[in-house]
Amino acid sequence: QKLNNFDMVIFGATGDLAMRKLLPCLYQAHAAGLLHPQGRILGVSRSQLNTSDFLAKVEKDSKIHIKQHFTDELWQSFIQRIQYLTVDVNTPEHFQTLRQTVQSRSQTDNVIIYLSTAPKFFAPACKNLAEVGLNADNVRIVLEKPLGTDLPSSQQINADVAQYFKEEQIYRIDHYLGKESLQNVLPLRFGNVFFEPIWNKDFVKSVQITIAEQLGVEERGEFYDITGALRDMVQNHIIQMLCFVAMEQPKSLSADDVRDEKLKVVAALKPMTSADVDKNVVRAQYVAHESQKGYLQENNVPANSRTETYVAIRAEIDTPRWQGVPFYLRTGKRLAARSAEIVLNFKEQENGLFGNHANRLVISLQPDETVSAKMFVKQVGNGLNVQAAEMVLDMGKTSNERRAEAYELLLREVIDGRLSLFNRRDELEKAWEWVMPILENWANSPIAPHTYAASSWGPKAAQDLLAQDGNVWLEEQI
Ligand code: BG6
Repeated sequence: QKLNNFDMVIFGATGDLAMRKLLPCLYQAHAAGLLHPQGRILGVSRSQLNTSDFLAKVEKDSKIHIKQHFTDELWQSFIQRIQYLTVDVNTPEHFQTLRQTVQSRSQTDNVIIYLSTAPKFFAPACKNLAEVGLNADNVRIVLEKPLGTDLPSSQQINADVAQYFKEEQIYRIDHYLGKESLQNVLPLRFGNVFFEPIWNKDFVKSVQITIAEQLGVEERGEFYDITGALRDMVQNHIIQMLCFVAMEQPKSLSADDVRDEKLKVVAALKPMTSADVDKNVVRAQYVAHESQKGYLQENNVPANSRTETYVAIRAEIDTPRWQGVPFYLRTGKRLAARSAEIVLNFKEQENGLFGNHANRLVISLQPDETVSAKMFVKQVGNGLNVQAAEMVLDMGKTSNERRAEAYELLLREVIDGRLSLFNRRDELEKAWEWVMPILENWANSPIAPHTYAASSWGPKAAQDLLAQDGNVWLEEQI
């Protein structure tokens, strides 16, 4: 399982993502013995630091985020891989030094440039990288979300990067694709005989996709207030989950075959008119409850903000497989529990010998990684009465292998140059296209967002959205 040799340049190396995720995840891979002995990491940012200053910061801000297998010895050998260089993305001369540094220390031509910066720096960074030849075919570039705030800005970012890098060099991160349990949807569906025949409108009554968080916006008020739940979670993570559930079997597992099928799902999402948005989309904000603050009381949030911290959508997919099946999508901050799950509610049996029961399949990504099927089985005792029971597959128990965090898994994929778990330009832009009418409706709507009490399951309007179809959210199901 050892990975290829690599030289990874991390822009934004002093930033939050690098400290919280990228360096700790690279450490985990190092501690697990997966990184090539010569693999190098070059942290770059505007800050005037030398390598030892940078390492002091890493020691302070990054080490605390390591979750598995920490020893001082491993840590010391890990930091040997790290070097630091001051690079201002707008200063072309700095890129000369960058190229020389990469050339002088690399034992490999597997060069990875990770842009862990705000998207406004992507264009100048790419241009200056190209000026010094750091866009040659051997270079891969990794882009972090948010990739735009709407369709035009996302197209602009993609067009800027495409001037200097080919699509097959570009790794657009959606960390949900690094989650084992989401990846597991494909083998589950296409590697077993008994799911695929019932995975369609004839058997499935509705699908629910939820990402619920207990956290509020924490210290990210400023970013969050111009972003909101739709851009932060739906356009990317939720739509990716939807793609895995709804796609047709790809011709192969090659990156383009998988991404072609995902693209078809997004393209088949029924477009919404403004009237559809009024009917099928619920936006809401959390309000104070007991000891918890409301969204409007959070730091750096304007008192009159209308930014949604919760969104629920009734979507439909216009393909022969899914015609007429509602897909309920929702996500929110400060909800009652932390969970990410996909629920398939099957149709009720007709004229069932034991009553008209409805099965259900729940694929849980977090907090636990499980696949649970609600079944009907004999009650103990005389007679043949039935009761509901759950058959639970605990993915954590299917193997003794260490389960890596999403970012680690994705970094390993980048190092080995596999693109299937990264978004292609066309699928991301299609996803933006689909959410645009919602953004436009909200921008022009005189109606304020609904509210929900912090630590509840969201606004009543989200229950009403399902009630129209005679459905309820998972937590209300028996
Ligand atoms: C990020 C969002 O993409 O995903 C955050 O910007 C959110 O707001 C996070 O908290 C959720 O990720 P996870 O893996 O904790 O469910």
